Amino acid sequence: MPLSFKHCIFEDMILVTGGTGLLGSHLLFRLSSEQGTIRAIYRDSTKIELVKKLFQYYGNSNWQEQFNRIEWFEGDILDLLSLEDAMKGIEFVYHCAGLVSFNKRHFAQLIKINREGTANIVNTCLAFGVKKLCHVSSTASIGGQVNTITSETTKWKQGPETSGYAISKYSGEKEVWRGVEEGLDCIIVNPSVIFGAGHWDESSLTIFRTLDKGLRFHTPGKNGFVDARDVAEIMVQLMQSDIKNERFLCVGINLPFKTLLEKIALALNKKPPTIATPKWLIGFTWRFSWLLSKFRGRTAAITRASAKTAFNVMEYDASKVQKALNFTFRSFDDTIENTVKGKIF
Ligand SMILES: NC(=O)c1ccc[n+]([C@@H]2O[C@H](COP(=O)([O-])OP(=O)(O)OC[C@H]3O[C@@H](n4cnc5c(N)ncnc54)[C@H](OP(=O)(O)O)[C@@H]3O)[C@@H](O)[C@H]2O)c1
Repeated sequence: MPLSFKHCIFEDMILVTGGTGLLGSHLLFRLSSEQGTIRAIYRDSTKIELVKKLFQYYGNSNWQEQFNRIEWFEGDILDLLSLEDAMKGIEFVYHCAGLVSFNKRHFAQLIKINREGTANIVNTCLAFGVKKLCHVSSTASIGGQVNTITSETTKWKQGPETSGYAISKYSGEKEVWRGVEEGLDCIIVNPSVIFGAGHWDESSLTIFRTLDKGLRFHTPGKNGFVDARDVAEIMVQLMQSDIKNERFLCVGINLPFKTLLEKIALALNKKPPTIATPKWLIGFTWRFSWLLSKFRGRTAAITRASAKTAFNVMEYDASKVQKALNFTFRSFDDTIENTVKGKIF
């Protein structure tokens, strides 16, 4: 489908939330490659240094000039006053802020940030007459079932196995659809697991840290994976197009976990995991991890929900976005290589 570019980034006033995170930092790099005013919300100024390192990693000799195009704005999506200040003069909003966690203890926080935070964004966008919102949802909020192919039209089903993260992202997305009914134009992206340059202790990159330390076990599950650069590019192209009020799965590849772990291990020059994990062992592992976290007073590394995910066979159909934008996802080998090379401390 040919795209008609309604507006050009050159003139736009853009607000980005979650710009200090994995996806948001890639989006900032993509947006700042064109002229325009970009305001990015931050909570902790030390995180801005990580974004700077990401620009240095991806950029050419003018990365600093590109980085300086960002106007950093201290704020919190749970603080309406700071959000209203951040929204002044803004025409387009990219909402990447969110909490990614499969820990049961984080349920209240997940609902607060992913639902209430999104409701605040939607309400301020409506109040300030924002032209278009891009909301980052997730494959988790589609609620696909195992052993079927999930698409944008799959119906949400909640059961005892549904993670708190999925519930929070589903209810956050519902806030955006409510905003659409109230007159807001939006685009929703539903990425699968995202990889890209960044800090290996954060978000979905922790699997690289685990494999770097050495991992002997693999699990029989399957899931979708996508490059952060592709998600950022899709977000910008959808925002610049006439397309509105639709959701798009962003999944570069569906891959068995065993193949995923082998590919990452190979890129890290580590031995790939060779032992198939029996279900009873993973049950034991998450319980042990939970017990250990109690003693150490830290968050459990493996939770019941993340352990179960490792056994689920999930597959996604990303043909809608490919057709709408004539988009081709990067090769997954490129994604892995880039994530390994782009480790940021
Ligand atoms: N990573 C994945 O595999 C994946 C897959 C599908 C969808 N998603 C979604 O993509 C979005 C970004 O994920 P990510 O992987 O980039 O996560 P991330 O690296 O953990 O980054 C999260 C970002 O949200 C910000 N944030 C959190 N709470 C906030 C608040 N109350 N006010 C303002 N900012 C806040 C964080 O700021 P601080 O730096 O201050 O903490 C950070 O910039 C999330 O909505 C997530 O649900 C992620």
